[in-house]
Amino acid sequence: MEKIRRTKVSDLLKSETFGTIVNARGWVRSRRGSKKVNFVALNDGSTINNLQIVVDVESFDEEIIKKITTGSCISVNGELVASQGKGQSAELQAKDIVILGEADNTYPLQKKGHTMEFLREIAHLRPRTNTFGAVFRIRHNMAMAVHDFFHKKGFYYFNAPLITSSDCEGAGEMFQVTTMNLYDLKKNEDGTINYDYDFFGKQAALTVSGQLEAELAAMSMGACYTFGPTFRAENSNTPRHLAEFWMIEPEMAFVEIDENMDLAEEFVKHCLKWALDNCMEDISFLNKMFDKELIERIHFVLEHDFKRLTYTEGVKILEEAVAKGHKFEYPVFWGADLASEHERYLVEDHFKRPVILTDYPKEIKSFYMKQNDDDKTVRAMDILFPKIGEIIGGSQREENLEKLEKRAKEMEVPTKDIWWYLDTRRYGTAPHSGFGLGFERLLLFVTGMTNIRDVIPFPRTPNNCEF
Ligand code: 4AD
Ligand code: MG
Repeated sequence: MEKIRRTKVSDLLKSETFGTIVNARGWVRSRRGSKKVNFVALNDGSTINNLQIVVDVESFDEEIIKKITTGSCISVNGELVASQGKGQSAELQAKDIVILGEADNTYPLQKKGHTMEFLREIAHLRPRTNTFGAVFRIRHNMAMAVHDFFHKKGFYYFNAPLITSSDCEGAGEMFQVTTMNLYDLKKNEDGTINYDYDFFGKQAALTVSGQLEAELAAMSMGACYTFGPTFRAENSNTPRHLAEFWMIEPEMAFVEIDENMDLAEEFVKHCLKWALDNCMEDISFLNKMFDKELIERIHFVLEHDFKRLTYTEGVKILEEAVAKGHKFEYPVFWGADLASEHERYLVEDHFKRPVILTDYPKEIKSFYMKQNDDDKTVRAMDILFPKIGEIIGGSQREENLEKLEKRAKEMEVPTKDIWWYLDTRRYGTAPHSGFGLGFERLLLFVTGMTNIRDVIPFPRTPNNCEF
């Protein structure tokens, strides 16, 4: 076969240089047709659209034709011609075909219409489906949207460590990192484990949040953001929780809670607009196949201000709903941590748009949040989204050393391990704020997927660590 440099399917479909000989490579989605002419749908991941290859059966070796099966990988030289069929501009009239990789009839993606559960079991192959190709292209584009937003605003991309010895959220949901022989643990006299012999000479774990380190960066470089994997060993098997997820955490010096909310709202809207501007083909497919209101919902959020109210006001609305006969699975009262059903009631039933809840009871929030004068609430802000519930959690930070230390003690956060964090309050402290956006929760909203396992390539959840 004549050596021609490969052109991506996305470029071929846009091309109008009809009559030229080009090379396309990709995976066969299907082959159909008659004894005389076959039509091969070829996809190379560059777009949701397939390139149609027209094969004049009689001019090819029978053995080659037989090997053009669903899932096989082929390289085709052919003439780019204007397409006869609707919905595509160009197709390829095959001149020469090489089978790069065969796929026999055990290939699991033979026919369409597999369940999402089945596709999760073949996560190594699911990016070859239309759905997951679309989702993962959108995921890439959303990552670009994140960097674009912060870079243009003068935030520095700052990398927090993944292995750490501090529990930022204080929830004790950390995965331990150790090289110790678990069958022969060295113990202290009192029976506790002696970490002197461990790799780091102390107990270490995977991070639950890069925030504490991001605060150090904000208190020196002004504004920064992290964007990386975070790990939580919370045993919650829900469609919204992963044990390994990606989080974006901006942190800004000299910013108080209102400006923090403004930035969060602007940021989410930037990402949504980016999705509409850059991923419309993929989003349209998902809109058609999974969620007929997807595009409408994205537009709606873009065009409306987020409703801002306090936790106390929110709870009042929920209590009134209960009084009027609305049934929630979990009880709601001042002081309760809101469940997803409560958050979604406020968003979907009551305000009918995204909500920012502020000033939560201090008992249900982390030690680092700035305390309000009422001594009951902290300057927290959660952004709640339709279909998702909490998509962002953030706050103004407690910049006063004494108050911070007191709160840490009350919440039993070991301050000796975060001496470096407390130093920022000791040396040149300043008001500052930040928040964390769960990347996969954003992706749930943008793709219309209903299970968080379907917006990350290889989900990590309780009892699942395949691939
Ligand atoms: O509300 P969280 O726990 O806040 C923090 O971690 C803060 N340190 C953020 C900050 O202020 N810099 O988590 C933030 C967001 C949540 O709103 C949610 O979107 C997402 O992270 N998230 C998860 N996403 C998937 N799986 C999980 N198990 C998640 N836990 C939190
Ligand atoms: Mg939260």
